[in-house]
Amino acid sequence: MRAVEIITKKRSGQELSEAEIRFLIDGYVAGDIPDYQVSAWAMAVYFQGMTFGETGFLTRAMIASGDVLHLDGVPGPLVDKHSTGGVGDKVSLVLAPLAAACGLRVPMMSGRALGHTGGTLDKLDAIPGFKTALTQEKIREGLNTVGYIMTGQSAEVVPADRLLYALRDVSGTVESIPLITASILSKKFAEGAEALVFDVKSGRGAFMDTVEKGRALAVSLVETARSLGRRAVAVLTDMGQPLGRMTGNFLEVEESVLCLRGQGPDDLMTLTYRQAAWMLVAGGPVKTVAEGEALARRKLEDGSALKKWEESVAFQGGDVAALNAQIGVRRAKLSGVLTAPGDGWHGGWDALECGLAATALGAGRNRKEDTVLPDVGLEFLAKRGEPLKKGQDVLRVWADSE
Ligand code: URA
Repeated sequence: MRAVEIITKKRSGQELSEAEIRFLIDGYVAGDIPDYQVSAWAMAVYFQGMTFGETGFLTRAMIASGDVLHLDGVPGPLVDKHSTGGVGDKVSLVLAPLAAACGLRVPMMSGRALGHTGGTLDKLDAIPGFKTALTQEKIREGLNTVGYIMTGQSAEVVPADRLLYALRDVSGTVESIPLITASILSKKFAEGAEALVFDVKSGRGAFMDTVEKGRALAVSLVETARSLGRRAVAVLTDMGQPLGRMTGNFLEVEESVLCLRGQGPDDLMTLTYRQAAWMLVAGGPVKTVAEGEALARRKLEDGSALKKWEESVAFQGGDVAALNAQIGVRRAKLSGVLTAPGDGWHGGWDALECGLAATALGAGRNRKEDTVLPDVGLEFLAKRGEPLKKGQDVLRVWADSE
């Protein structure tokens, strides 16, 4: 087989065989097929799509590109959630400790910033000392003792997603239902969760800009997960507005800590409680979403989720005291504010433009080699529907350079 023939076959809209997809993925991971051919293929997939069958083959090829976590012996239920990506979407940072406080075990494997959306791993890197690269042994220990871990793809586990994810980020090939499906599911299968909740976002700040496209992505994720033998649920959520009041890596860690302290904004907490409830239903401990939400609220309000977060930060090498001392004070060097031009009501932020602005400030990457700036970002001082007075601050920008 030759990569160029696989690219032209997909470019002309034909269905690829399992062997062809396997050849491409294995060759890419082995270093035999270069970035430029894989980005040409990804662009062909972006325009031509894939059948459910091809999406399943791609997911399997990506899982087979590395090891899977062996979690036998870790008491269940092992449940995880994954978001399809948004602006200000720090739900995972709050949800994982909350779900663990409710009795679930959460082996969470996340990604870095993708396109204009933030990445959980880049946010966690902003915590002093925190390590997301964990050995199998450490993962098992974390699940057994703390109840949850947060890690990422590596050279050993789903290396195909690590490479493809970084390539798609900078080649305009993120917004593809089959590529998103295979990227998410390969991580979720490799990490060994028994049941999955997908937060499928649609709107200006999401990769799917309409609810119809969001629904199609949800169907693809749930059907492919079920065909591979996992219980799966998708919630369709709005990404028309940035989530919460902050976007940027450290800023989002800070807002997550505030959520765990019971000071989170309503939009973020509503979403977090609802997803915790579905995780509890999917994992089995509760029968209804209402029961799950009530349990999640109790575990947040009584401080159990915050305690889990601090245990987990310490377990993964982070410095809890240093982090807590940075809350509300750690910021980028420069800041500027935007003020209301007159009295009235806030009409809403354009979540896509906010995500692109945060990326341009350095919260995301323009090239694969770029490192992100942890302290830059945006603070939304007013949000849609809030009353405004002329001259009132509505947005603060944190930047590293003029
Ligand atoms: N999250 C992922 O892990 N992969 C994608 O492609 C999009 C969101």
